[in-house]
Amino acid sequence: MSSSPEMSWLSVFPIVAIISLVAGVGILVYLRFFYVDLPPIEGIPEVPNGELLAGHFYKLGSDHATTAETWAQKYGWPVFQVRMGKRRAVILNSFDSAREWTVKNQSATLDRPWFYTFHGIISATSGRELAGLFLMSDSAATIGTSPWDERTKKQRRVVGSFTTGPSMRDMRPMLDLETCAMVSAIYYDSAKGDVELSPHIYQKRLALNLMTMFCYGTRFASIKDPLLGQILSDANTIASFRSTKANPQDFIPHLRYMGGNARNQTAMEVRKRRDTWLSTMLENIRGNLPMNLGSKKMNVAEMLLTDSQEGLTQMDIKTILGGLMSGGFETIFSTVIITIGMLSTPAGQAMQQKAYDDIMSVYESPEEAFEQCLNEEKSPYIAGLVKEALRFYPPLKLLPARQTYKEFIYQGAVIPKGLLLYVNAQAANRDKSVYGPDAEEFHPERWLEGGADVPPPYHFAFGAGARMCTAVNFSNRMLYAIFLRLIVAFKIEASKTMPANTHYINYKEDAAASNAVASDFRIRLTPRDKQTLEKCFERSEELSEGATSSQYSEPLKR
Ligand code: HEM
Repeated sequence: MSSSPEMSWLSVFPIVAIISLVAGVGILVYLRFFYVDLPPIEGIPEVPNGELLAGHFYKLGSDHATTAETWAQKYGWPVFQVRMGKRRAVILNSFDSAREWTVKNQSATLDRPWFYTFHGIISATSGRELAGLFLMSDSAATIGTSPWDERTKKQRRVVGSFTTGPSMRDMRPMLDLETCAMVSAIYYDSAKGDVELSPHIYQKRLALNLMTMFCYGTRFASIKDPLLGQILSDANTIASFRSTKANPQDFIPHLRYMGGNARNQTAMEVRKRRDTWLSTMLENIRGNLPMNLGSKKMNVAEMLLTDSQEGLTQMDIKTILGGLMSGGFETIFSTVIITIGMLSTPAGQAMQQKAYDDIMSVYESPEEAFEQCLNEEKSPYIAGLVKEALRFYPPLKLLPARQTYKEFIYQGAVIPKGLLLYVNAQAANRDKSVYGPDAEEFHPERWLEGGADVPPPYHFAFGAGARMCTAVNFSNRMLYAIFLRLIVAFKIEASKTMPANTHYINYKEDAAASNAVASDFRIRLTPRDKQTLEKCFERSEELSEGATSSQYSEPLKR
């Protein structure tokens, strides 16, 4: 006699029920005791209401730095812990805490975490795909994403030597060429000040050219170059992959198996294109090396390829160049563009006037200022403007993730090794206990008046401690020269129809991107004195002659 389907279901039901119960209990035990990498840290408050699997990841919204800043204010906790999916993390929101963790305890906080998307998928896969194209190495590697080890230490040392002291002097011709090319392109494209323009593309090309010239001795001679457009759009996409917000699968492991692959595919395509142009530039350098040997103005790639002291591998060379290109381009561009936006506002008119007066008090003439600004930072107001721009609009709001390298004690709490760590530069840079009641205002004068009271690192735009940006002096010099030349050349005013949004949160075109780029705006740039400016261009053309080969040069439009 055959049994009915109902009968057989009833007979297996107890077994299914027991298996489900055991599995359910197992999952609960796993989630309770084993899912999160580290147990709660006693003595550091935890933001309430973390979700079971995602923790606080989605609660941080699309703009993680702003939400963290709001939590710090709401709960009165400058330092708190959250769960980013399965990873416990601490976010530092005040100047003092950021300083204490990253400077005082720098040997304990100098590691960087390994992320599934960036290190596990994108780097590993494209490294394999492109083997044979000289790229034997991990394609995504940059110093800024590498864990702390002997290799990273060596790479930091090498990069540091290119961006300080005598190396900065050698960069003068290229800095002259690029900043003059930017100012003169704006001058002629705006019909000598008659038409408004959007400054973005000029500053993007400037920042990219500064980095390609520094690293490879090549540049884009026109803002219309199609490869320039491609690279800029790829850089935008790559930036979105570095953002914490854009990669939930790094923190919530089951998402890795739930159809996030389309995004990985895009990342790999873009990175592959980027790797191709980076390796083409390196191969060009390698090909021309015999002819250029002995020339005084070697670029970084040439110096790396001819190094005989550090024992650099091909992977070191590629990691260093990749790190310089990605570290420098977006940060310089985004700092410059929002500062121009701020200078164009009604409040910015007074800043421009003070800046111009200060410049004229330390240099003999506009021509001298235009020429000498590449050698030293003599105008305190412009130096203050640079600092204030970085304080008020740090391009990276939540700094690149760190990981603790060893255990240490913070205010009685035992901070474990392997903990994910974020410095919230947006919050720390506006800490009223350090910058005073006007911390929420853009005020370059603060660095002239009471600025001496703010201890190093003065602000956290460059990070701090053992993994601080390797190019602080170099970046400050570039920003000084860019702002000074712009202010000596023009009066900058907002467009009536498309002014800049300068609100410290709302100015960003994409709140979720890791690097904060200002939304588009237009400005009018009225030359202060056309004849003097044209003389400055000619002098600069003379002085920077030979900074690049004729193939990449950009004769003045006149
Ligand atoms: C306005 C300009 C710049 C800003 C605001 C900036 C900001 C930063 C920040 C926040 C970090 C992470 C620091 C930390 O974790 O404490 C960093 C790292 C780095 N930056 Fe910059 N940067 C700028 C320009 C540059 C330039 C021009 C270069 C190259 C020429 C560069 C190369 C690097 C490198 C190689 C690292 C990785 C350091 C490491 O992980 O050990 N940066 N930068």
